[in-house]
Amino acid sequence: MKILLFGGNGQIGHELQRTLAPFGNIVAPARSEADFTNADGLRAVLQQHAPDVIVNAAAYTAVDPAERDESTALAVNAAAVEALARYARYNGSLLVHYSSDYVFNGMQSGAYTELDVPHPQNAYGRSKLAGELAIQQGGCHALTFRTSWVFSSHGRNFIRTILKLARERKTIDVVSDQIGAPTSAELVADVTALALAAFHADALPEGLYHLTASGSTSWYGLACYVVQQAQAHGAPLKLDVSGIRAVRSADYQRAHPGTAIRPRNSRLDCRKLTEKLGLALPHWKVHVDRMLMQIDYGKAC
Ligand SMILES: NC(=O)c1ccc[n+]([C@@H]2O[C@H](COP(=O)([O-])OP(=O)(O)OC[C@H]3O[C@@H](n4cnc5c(N)ncnc54)[C@H](OP(=O)(O)O)[C@@H]3O)[C@@H](O)[C@H]2O)c1
Repeated sequence: MKILLFGGNGQIGHELQRTLAPFGNIVAPARSEADFTNADGLRAVLQQHAPDVIVNAAAYTAVDPAERDESTALAVNAAAVEALARYARYNGSLLVHYSSDYVFNGMQSGAYTELDVPHPQNAYGRSKLAGELAIQQGGCHALTFRTSWVFSSHGRNFIRTILKLARERKTIDVVSDQIGAPTSAELVADVTALALAAFHADALPEGLYHLTASGSTSWYGLACYVVQQAQAHGAPLKLDVSGIRAVRSADYQRAHPGTAIRPRNSRLDCRKLTEKLGLALPHWKVHVDRMLMQIDYGKAC
């Protein structure tokens, strides 16, 4: 099987290079070789490699900058995805794609299912929803996984930011009224491989699936957990939990103008996928612990 992986240097893409290896030959062009803002170049890359499976882990993921540059977010997260879907449709390839909890407005009290109506509140969310719709309307074979609060020891994410701040500061403000499931890139990549195998065995229908760790917390809860665990591992931190101040989103936004509005409730109900695959998704702490155990605290995060 020939797999063309976009975004192979990102958090999820990096892990996919490991978990998809048993499926066959993976080609993972760098952004410089397949820039999603260059539609003609992207089409040429698709034609050159003629993949059986296109895995799209590339995205414009900078949520706050997207507020000021929505056209680039749309080009990468929607127009390029439409080009992938069109290629997949006319060439019989499978498209594997990732989307986000940010397609929802977060007003609902329970976890969101795949049947709930998306209503993004920020530019990044609008661009991700436009990408989903391009796939649905493109009519190709596709598996789309919505995930949330992704972290890994590789790349930029909330946990690495907290560890960096904890080395530098004695106090930090962290939002306490947004909840979600911190999800490791490892978990997303592991389950993607299981889903791909199940799809090829006709045990998983194509479509849209929610895929996160189980359990939930707030950004504040996650920051406290990370600092406590890092201290337990002997990390040299200036910050301890008493220095982490819980703030409301509205206050944080007032203090940081230009910050995108984020959903209060980012919880995704993953039963559609777990029931089909017969999986129990691990609690978010399992992979956070794993990441925190692997960090070399002697080096800056
Ligand atoms: N991060 C999260 O919290 C989160 C939450 C929910 C859903 N998701 C979704 O999960 C997927 C993967 O996210 P991630 O956290 O792994 O992303 P990431 O670490 O930010 O990596 C994004 C990848 O996209 C590539 N990229 C960015 N702009 C590009 C362009 N113009 N042309 C080609 N490639 C480009 C980057 O290339 P470079 O390596 O050159 O920068 C990088 O390899 C995305 O669809 C994202 O929307 C993420």
